[in-house]
Parts: sequence; structure tokens; C-alpha cells
Amino acid sequence: MCGIAGYNGKQKAAPILIDSLKRLEYRGYDSAGIAVFDNTSIKVYKDKGKIAELEKGLPDITGSVGIGHTRWATHGRPDKVNAHPHTSGDIAVVHNGIIENYQTLKERLVHSGYTFVSETDTEVLAHLINHYYRNNLKEAVMSALKDVTGSYAVAVLRGTEMVAARKDSPLVVGLGSGENFIASDIPAVLKYTRNFILMDNMELACVYPDEVLFFDINNKPVEKAVTIIDWDMEAAEKSGYDHFMLKEIHEQPVSIHGAFAGRISELEGNIIFEDMGLSGEQVKEISRISVIACGTSLNAGLFGKYLFEHLAGIHVDVEIASEFRYAHSPPGSLVIAISQSGETADTLAALRQAKSYGSGTIAVTNVIGGTITREVDCVVYTRSGPEIGVAATKTFTSQLIVLYLLALYFGKLNGKISTDKIKRMISSLKKIPAQVTRILENREVVRECAENFASSNDFFFIGRTFNYPIALEGALKLKEISYIHAEGYAAGELKHGPLALISGKTPVVAIATRGLTYDKVVSNIKEVKARDAPVIAIADENDIEIEKYVDMVIRVPAADEILSPLLSTVVVQLLSYYVARERNCSIDQPRNLAKSVTVE
Ligand code: AGP
Repeated sequence: MCGIAGYNGKQKAAPILIDSLKRLEYRGYDSAGIAVFDNTSIKVYKDKGKIAELEKGLPDITGSVGIGHTRWATHGRPDKVNAHPHTSGDIAVVHNGIIENYQTLKERLVHSGYTFVSETDTEVLAHLINHYYRNNLKEAVMSALKDVTGSYAVAVLRGTEMVAARKDSPLVVGLGSGENFIASDIPAVLKYTRNFILMDNMELACVYPDEVLFFDINNKPVEKAVTIIDWDMEAAEKSGYDHFMLKEIHEQPVSIHGAFAGRISELEGNIIFEDMGLSGEQVKEISRISVIACGTSLNAGLFGKYLFEHLAGIHVDVEIASEFRYAHSPPGSLVIAISQSGETADTLAALRQAKSYGSGTIAVTNVIGGTITREVDCVVYTRSGPEIGVAATKTFTSQLIVLYLLALYFGKLNGKISTDKIKRMISSLKKIPAQVTRILENREVVRECAENFASSNDFFFIGRTFNYPIALEGALKLKEISYIHAEGYAAGELKHGPLALISGKTPVVAIATRGLTYDKVVSNIKEVKARDAPVIAIADENDIEIEKYVDMVIRVPAADEILSPLLSTVVVQLLSYYVARERNCSIDQPRNLAKSVTVE
């Protein structure tokens, strides 16, 4: 995920910018750059690769005001031209987030005579600000941002003037004495100050050495409170959360949005995957898809099976990568390899095996430039930002979103889904980030539930259809970080064996949100209740009936049946987290596990 740094003060800006960017390295990036005003003009230094390399090539830069950036490529390759800052005239810009309507804006600007050198959406912003500039940088930034649809944290430099703004992408202002800072997060500048102002959506800051003035997007001054940070550096990197896993669970409203931003058009009922380049005829020829993956990514793949079969009418086989590589039958004509790290040896081996049959290949991954990305025909990034906790959380929900978009895209191309239905599904999708936020706000209920059951030795998670992969994922998460034995089952399968294990000592988490199989899941709940199992139901917030049959209800906002598994996912993640915390487990680094499994 990109990172922003900015400095306006009396010291040399460049070393401070480089130092701040290094502290943002943990977010992941593929290129970096700075722009400094050296009392004559803005000088830009940027390149692909590591900040240390950029630093080595820097001359002695005298200016005391500048902006910097680490880029995690979304629009355009990770190279020097696409690296930030981007300039237009004497204006330099760094940007995090995605400008969804950048194509439309670009066409407008090209028509007005602007020349584009990069493939990025950010360059649009630089030209747009230049276009509106009439001797007032703040007002030019406001006008430009009013034209933008999407998310942004942005820092703009012109001469000694610096303006910052945000919408749905984090940005903080650090207050010093005779110097002020901006950054994507607190740790980046914690070395220089402990006094911070946390910017809210649609706010702008004019950053001078001796003061910072805040405005809303309509130029109305805004009063901001100063937050004094007393975290140590380690706590700061976790933004005050006790663990990276909890931080990453809480980042999901943003990461989910990032996974679909710029890839949907509700107005036209369209899904946009520019790089895919598939025609309707080509998609019609795909009669079978094979998904290959491991662990959490495999669970995402199973969710993908339900999606592709339901929305695009394409049969999907979900293959455990470590098994598939020994298979003797050919995969489908299209193979989707899912891997958050892009380095999993089992998945790579299976991918190579699939390619030997001549199948087309798509990777769904989170890491730019990972090995897997170099071996497939097409890459769809999940854009979750770096995930530090070994247990995958936000990368999983982003995988679900990407598979949802792919299934809609294929369904539209092969004529299995109407434009109107896509419009409705996009509309439901856009509500998910806010619905996830509501679940996170109610996390106390989940914590209480975890407290009640943390001493159990065995757990069951059950669900049907779209919720079955989430039951598997709930069990996997609990196993990984709390070391409790847990099984995920298709609810209808319990009676074919595992019911023998159910007793008063085996809590059952039943995903019972409303949908086609709701009544059947309720029947399965009654089966386990009849064997004295304590039942925790994950149910819609307006489902009063369910309370009669279960011991605890964790409520989620009512959502489309296909999308509500995303909401249930957040609940099972929180549940695992709080159980593990009750048991004092090493949450971010569970025993025996690694973030990237590069051995077969
Ligand atoms: C997830 O919590 C686990 N750490 C693990 O199951 C993981 O999903 C699996 O190893 C696959 O990793 P990948 O997505 O990086 O390929």
C-alpha cells in the first residue's frame, strides 16, 4: 500500500522525507520518490525499487519543504515513470488511493492540451490542480478534488506551499516547533513529534512551518483537536492495536473498498478488468475453470466456485494445490491460482503443472511482482496492502471481492447475467465496507462470546452454500491462532458422521444468515442443540426468531445472500482473535506457521 510523507520547516527536507518513507516501508511498495522545493524550483527524484537505492543517488538538496511517496502499483507498472511524485507545471503531487473516474478526467485534460507521461491515475490529479490553479493552491486542490470520484490521500507542493487532503485513505498531520509534517500514519514521523492531528474525510490542510490550517472541501475553516501519542514505536506500527491481526481486521472497510474501486460502473452495470482483454466468445468457450490454492486462499477458491457456477454458469473444480500437482487429468481450460503472497511453493508447482496442459492462467494475488505474477497470463491484484499477521484476514476478504467481480465479469461476457442484475449487485457490493464497519463497532459482543468459550477444546463451524467456505475459514483461523481443534463442515454433512462428536463440550458456530438454505441451517442447529451443544449463531440483525434455538447470537447487517459471507467472515475472524487473546497465544506469529510457505 502506498505511503505519503511531507515536511515544511527549517531543516533540510530530503533526509527527513527519506527517513519517514523508510518507516512506511512495512506497508510494502515497489517504487519511491521525493519532490523538494530548493528555493528556485521543485526537484523530483524517484525510481523503482528500494528507498535505500533512491537515497544513494540523491545529491545534497538544500530545500526545507517537500513531499515523498512509496508506491504500491495499481494503475501502471512499477517503474520510474509511474513512480510518484507526478508533476504538472510547477506543481508536484503524491497520492494514495484510486481515482475511479481518471479515464474521463484524462480525456478532458488531453482535450485541454495536457500531455501525460505516465499510466497512473495520479497524474490526472496533478494536471487537474494545475488546470484550476489561479494563484491559490488550496482552492485549486479543492476544485480538482470535487471532480474526483474515488479515494485519496494527497499531498501537493508548489513553491513553499504544501496542501494535503484525504478521503477514505489515511493521512495525519504531525505538529512540531517551527516545522510540521504529514504522513500516511503516525509511526512515519513519531521520531519528530508526538502531537498529531488526525485528518477526517473531505478535509484539507495547508501546512506551513509555523501553523497548519484546516478546511472542509467547501473552504470552510475546521477546528481540529490535537492527539498526543504516547505509544512506543512498536505499538505505533500497529496504530495502537495490540496485534497486527486486529489492525488488519479493522482495515477491512478500506481494503474491501480498494479491491473493487475502479473496477465497477454501477451506472452502466459494468465490471472493468482492462488488462484481461477477453472477448465474449472466448469466455463462452470456457466450460470449466480449475482453482488452485492452499489454506485460506483455498477457502476463497471454494467461495469462487459457488460464485462462478451461480453467476456465470461455469463449472469450477477447486483443487488443493499440493494434491493437484500429482493429478493425472487435465485442468479446466482456465486456471485461477489464488495466493496472497504469490510465493506459495505448492501453488506454484500446481500452476506449472496446469500450464503444461496448455490452460490459460490468471493469478489472484496481493504482492506486486511475486513469483506467481511472472508465470501467469494475467494478474488481478487484491490491493489489500501489506498483511503482517501470519493469519490471513484482509487479504481473504479482498480475494472474495475479486472473485465476485470476476464471476460477474465472466457472467456478463457470456450472457448469463443481465446488466440490470449487475447494477443491483454492484449497489449491494458498495454497501459492504460500511456494513463491515458496523460489525467492527459491535465487536464487544464477539469478545464476550469468545470469553465464554475460550476454554473449549473443540469447536465446530457450520454453514451451507456460500457460507460453507466461511465455516471452513472460521475453523482454520481458530486452529491457527488459538491452537483449539476446530472443524468446518457443510451443515448438511454433520449427520453423516461428525454428529457423533457433538456434545455439551463442543460449541458450534452456525452461520445462519438469511438465504436459500436458512431453514435447513436452522434444522441443523436443532440437531446439534438436541445433543446439548452450545450454539453461537451468526444471524441477520432483524432475525428475532433465531434466538429461540441458540445460546448466543452475533448479528450482522442484512445483506445480499451472496455478499453476506463477507460480513460473517469478519465475525469469525474477530472470534478467533479474541479466543486466542483469552488463551494468551502468540497471535501474529502462531507456532509452526509462516506468512509465506516457500517449501513443498
Ligand atoms: C492463512 O491464515 C494461512 N496463513 C495459510 O493457510 C495460507 O492461506 C496458505 O499458506 C496459502 O498462502 P498464500 O495465500 O500466500 O498462497
